[in-house]
Amino acid sequence: MKYLQWTVATFAALFLAWPASAGKTVIPVETANTQLVLVAQENGVLQTVHFGAKIADPSAFAAFRTGRGTDNGEGPMTYPTTGGRYIGEPALHVKYADGYHNTELVYAEHRVRANGNVVTTEIILKDPVTLLEVKLCYDAYQKENVICAHTEIKNAGKKPVQLLNYASGALNLDADQYYLTHFHGGWADEMQMDGELLKHDTKVIESRRGTQVTQCSNPSFLVSLNAERLQENVGEVVAGALAWSGNFRLSFEQDESGRLTVLAGISPFASAYELAAGKTFTTPDFIYTFSCKGAGQASRNLHAWARNYGVYGGGQINPTLLNSWEGAYFTFTTETLLRMIDDAAAMGLEMFVLDDGWFAKDYPRNGDDAGLGDWEVNSAKIPEGIDYVASYAHQKGLKFGIWIEPEMVNPQSNLAHQHPEWVVQSPGRELYQSRNQWVLDLSNPAVQDFVYGIFDNTMQLAPNIDYIKWDCNRIVANFGSTYLGKDQDRFFVEYAQGIYNVMRRLRAKYPDTIVQCCSSGGGRVDYGALKYFNEIWTSDNTDAFTRAYIQYATNLIYPACVMASHVSAVPNHQTGNVTPLKFRFDMACSGRLGMELQPRNLTEGERALADRCIRSYKQYRDLVFTGDVYRLASPYEGDYYALMYVSQDRRRAVVFTYCLKYQNRAVGAHVFRMDGLDPARQYKVTELNVNRSSWWGSGQVHAGDFLMNGGFNPVLLKTFDSGVFYLEAD
Ligand code: DGJ
Repeated sequence: MKYLQWTVATFAALFLAWPASAGKTVIPVETANTQLVLVAQENGVLQTVHFGAKIADPSAFAAFRTGRGTDNGEGPMTYPTTGGRYIGEPALHVKYADGYHNTELVYAEHRVRANGNVVTTEIILKDPVTLLEVKLCYDAYQKENVICAHTEIKNAGKKPVQLLNYASGALNLDADQYYLTHFHGGWADEMQMDGELLKHDTKVIESRRGTQVTQCSNPSFLVSLNAERLQENVGEVVAGALAWSGNFRLSFEQDESGRLTVLAGISPFASAYELAAGKTFTTPDFIYTFSCKGAGQASRNLHAWARNYGVYGGGQINPTLLNSWEGAYFTFTTETLLRMIDDAAAMGLEMFVLDDGWFAKDYPRNGDDAGLGDWEVNSAKIPEGIDYVASYAHQKGLKFGIWIEPEMVNPQSNLAHQHPEWVVQSPGRELYQSRNQWVLDLSNPAVQDFVYGIFDNTMQLAPNIDYIKWDCNRIVANFGSTYLGKDQDRFFVEYAQGIYNVMRRLRAKYPDTIVQCCSSGGGRVDYGALKYFNEIWTSDNTDAFTRAYIQYATNLIYPACVMASHVSAVPNHQTGNVTPLKFRFDMACSGRLGMELQPRNLTEGERALADRCIRSYKQYRDLVFTGDVYRLASPYEGDYYALMYVSQDRRRAVVFTYCLKYQNRAVGAHVFRMDGLDPARQYKVTELNVNRSSWWGSGQVHAGDFLMNGGFNPVLLKTFDSGVFYLEAD
C-alpha cells in the first residue's frame, strides 16, 4: 500500500512537470531550407541538436546521442542557465531572494502556429524549485530562411528575483573549425571587417557605451563552419544579429566538447535587472540564418528578411538628396539654403536636408558648443522660418528634411539650466562633456515625453516635413539617473527601451516620415533601431575609397536600402583623399545616393557628370533597394571591389566595379564573374555614365552563363577607375 501511494504521488508530480509526452519531444523550427532541431530529453532538459540544412525527418533526432558523459554537463542546452551541471557561459543567470543562484529549466509544453510566411514556435520551460518560467519564442520566416528568437522570462514565484544574465538566445553549433567574422572600428571607420579562427574558451564582443553602441563593434557576426576564412559562395555559414540599440554582448564559447555556443543578448554590464513577482522580462530579438552557399547567401537571406520585416519601410525607395552638412556646416543663411535647393533641383536630386545649425536663439547653434536642447528656429540665421525654406524646396519639386539631436543637451542652453536633473549623472561625480554636450536621461518618462515633443514640434515647423535625420553624438560617462533612484541597474536597459517608447509613439503619429538613424555616422546600426528607422547614416566618412571597406562590411549584414551614401567634396574632409567625381558617384550609387557638398563649387563639367549619374541612378535604383546582392570582389582581399544587385525575376541587374589599387599593364583586365543571373538568358550590358566604355562588350548582348563564367573584364587599371553596368534581358 505504501509503495502504491509513493508511485501515484511520484507519477502525479512527474506528470505536472512533464505533461507533453513521456520520453523525448522533438521540436523542429524550420524554414524553407533550414532547420533548428530542439529535443526535450527524458529529464526535461531542452537541447539543440541541429542547426543547418533541412533534414526531411527530424524525428530521427529523438534517438540522437551526443556520446558525452553527463558528468560533463547536460550537453548542448538550448537556453543554458547557471545551475545544475552547467558550467559554461549562461544565457540566463538568476539570483533569487534567498541568495541562491541555481536555475534548472525543464520542458513543460510547446505550441506552434502558422501565420502565412511566419511560423511561430513557443516553448515553455519551468524551474520546478523557484517557479521561474521561460518562454522561448521562435519566428521562422519560411521564404527568407531567417529565424528571430527572443525569450520571455517570467517570475512566477512570490519574491523578486535578480536577472544577472538574460541573453536573447543561444545557438549551439557543431563543427571541426569555426571562423568568426565580426565588425570593429571607430568614428569615421565603422564596420571594419575583422576575423579569427575561434580556439577554445570564449570570445566576447561587447559594447558598454550606452549610446552610440555600434561605433566600435556591431552586434552581428558570421561564423564559417569547417573553414579557416569567410568565403563568399561556398561553405556553411551562420550569420546573426541582435536587434538592440543598447549595450550588447555576443559570446562565442568553444568548450571541451568542441561545440560552439553563441550567446547574443543585452550586456549584463551594470545591469542586474530586478524582476518583481508576477512580472515578465522580454529580451530583444536574436536574428539568425544558415547558408550552405557561403556569406553571399547568408547576406541575401538577412537582407530579404530585413526588407520584408526588419526595416521600417523596407523595400520602399527613398529619395536622393542634398544634405547641407559638409557643404555649409554651421555657417549659412536662408540665402545659402535656397541656393543649395536650386542646385539640388537642377541636378535632379529629390530632397534637401537641412542639417545641424538651424536652431536655438539665446545660445545659438553656430558651433557644436551651444544650443542643443533649445529647439526653436534661430531667427538670426533663418528669419523667414523653416516653413519658408521647406515651401521653397517643395515648390522646386523637392522633399524637405531636417536634422535633430533630441537625446542631447549643451551646457550652454536654456534646457540645461531649466532641467539639470534630466542630464545623465551620478551624484558628486564629474559631468564629463563630449563634443561639448551631455546626454539626456531617456530612462526617465518625462525626458521621453520631451524627446517625443522635439520631433513632434519640429514636424510642425512646416507642413509636410518629409524626412528627419535623428543624430546622437556621444557616449555615456558616469552613468546614472536622478529618476531611477536606487534602481541604477536599470539605467542602460531603460535608456534603450526609452528610445523605443519614443519611436513607437512617433511612428503611430508619423507613419510616413522617412527617419534616418545617425549617430556620428554609424554609431547606432542595428536591427532594433531599424524597426523604426528607414535608413542609417552609414558613416561620417564620406571618402569613397574608405567607404568601400565600410559599405562592403555593412552590407554583409544590412541591406543596401538602408545604407545612406553621399558624394562629397575633395580633398575629403575626413581622410584628405582625392578621388575622381565619377568614382565618388559610383560608390554612393551602390547605396541610397545623396550629395553632401556645396554644389556651387562644382565645375560645369562636374555638374554635367552629376546630372548624368543621378539620372541613370533613378533608372536602376530599384535594384539597389530591392534586388539581391552578389559580391564579386572584396576590398579586404584584393585590389578590386565589385558587387551587383539582381532583380528578383533575374531579368535586370546593375554591376558596380571599383579599382582600389593601380594595376600594371602586364596584369591586364581583371575578370569579374557575375553571379545570380539566369545562365540561359541573353542580357544587354551597357556601361553607364561614360562616353567610352571600359569594357569591350558594352552595348552588346551576352548570355548569362558567359557573364557568370568568365567573360566580363572591364579595363580598370588606374587607382579609382570605376564602372557601373546595367543589364537587361529581353
Ligand atoms: C554627426 C553626423 O554624423 C553628421 O552627419 C552631422 O549631422 C553632424 N553630426 C552634425 O552635427
